Amino acid sequence: MTAAPASEVSPPSQHFEVRPFNAPVGAEVVGLDISKPINTEDFTRLHKAHLDHHVLVFRNQQITPQEHIDFSRRFGPLEIHVLHQFQLKNHPEILIVSNIKENGEPIGLGDAGVYWHSDISYKPKPSLGSLLHAQELPSEGGDTLFADQHLAWESLSSELQQRILPLKAEHSYLAKYEELRAKNPWRPKLSQAQIDQVAPAVQPVVRTHPETGRKALFVSEHFTTRIVGLPQEESDALLAELFAHSVKPEFVYRHQWAPHDLVFWDNRSLMHLAAGTPDHLRRRLNRTTIVGDTPF
Ligand code: OGA
Ligand code: MN
Repeated sequence: MTAAPASEVSPPSQHFEVRPFNAPVGAEVVGLDISKPINTEDFTRLHKAHLDHHVLVFRNQQITPQEHIDFSRRFGPLEIHVLHQFQLKNHPEILIVSNIKENGEPIGLGDAGVYWHSDISYKPKPSLGSLLHAQELPSEGGDTLFADQHLAWESLSSELQQRILPLKAEHSYLAKYEELRAKNPWRPKLSQAQIDQVAPAVQPVVRTHPETGRKALFVSEHFTTRIVGLPQEESDALLAELFAHSVKPEFVYRHQWAPHDLVFWDNRSLMHLAAGTPDHLRRRLNRTTIVGDTPF
C-alpha cells in the first residue's frame, strides 16, 4: 500500500476538553493550541462548542497575528473595520483595541464596547463572531462582559414577545459616535467615505440564529436608534425596557483577562460590554471580526 500524499493526511487530534463556566454562557477550551493544525473532527467539535456556549476562552495562546487571522477565517470571511486608522500594520483584518497613546496618537480604538452591543449590527450583514486576543493587560480592570440574548428573549413575558416579534429597528454606527468623540477627542473625525460605509441598517428586533434556530433579542444601547414605524416616544420607551432587560446579571458572564487569552464569541447570540480600564493603565487587544449573514 502506498502512503497517502501529505496533503491528504489529517493532522492528529489535539484531544481538547470543553469546560463550561459556572455562568449562564461560556466555556474554556483546554488543550487546544491554535497555532497547530486543527483537523476536521476537532474543528467540528469546536464549532459545536461555540454554538452551545456562545463564548469560548482559549487560555495562553501564543499566536502571531497571522495565526489569529488564519484561525478566524475558518469560520468565515473577515470584516475590515471602518476605522482603518486602527488596523494593525500589514494586517488590515486586525483592529487594535487599546487605550494606549504613542507620541500623543492613539494606537487603537480606546473606547470599544463602552455601551452594550453586538459587533457590526449596523451593517446589513452583521458579524457572526469576533475574536479578541490579549496583547497587554492592565493590573486591574479591563474585564469584558457577555450577555446571552437567547435567555433575554426566552425570559420576556409572552405578551411582550408577541408585541416585539414582528418589529424591526434601525441600527446606526453613527448613533453615539459624536457623543463618544466629545468625551474622547482622539476618536478620528470620520471622512465622507467612512460615513458612506456605515449607512444605517434595519434589523429584526428578534433574530433567529441561522445555525441553531434559536431566537435572540437583537437591539443594543450602542447602535439601535429607533423601532421602525413607532412614534419616537413609544419607540424610546420600548427600547429602554428591552435594553434594561437584555443585560440582567443572570444572563451575563464576566471575563477576566489573563495573558495571551483568545476569546471567541457569537455576535448572533450575545451582546458584550467593556467594563472599563483605569486611564493610567495600558490595555491592548487584537480583534478579528467574522462576517455573518443577513439577520431574519
Ligand atoms: C470589541 C469590544 C470590548 C473590550 O473589541 O468588539 O467591544 O472589553 N471590546 O475591549
Ligand atoms: Mn465589540
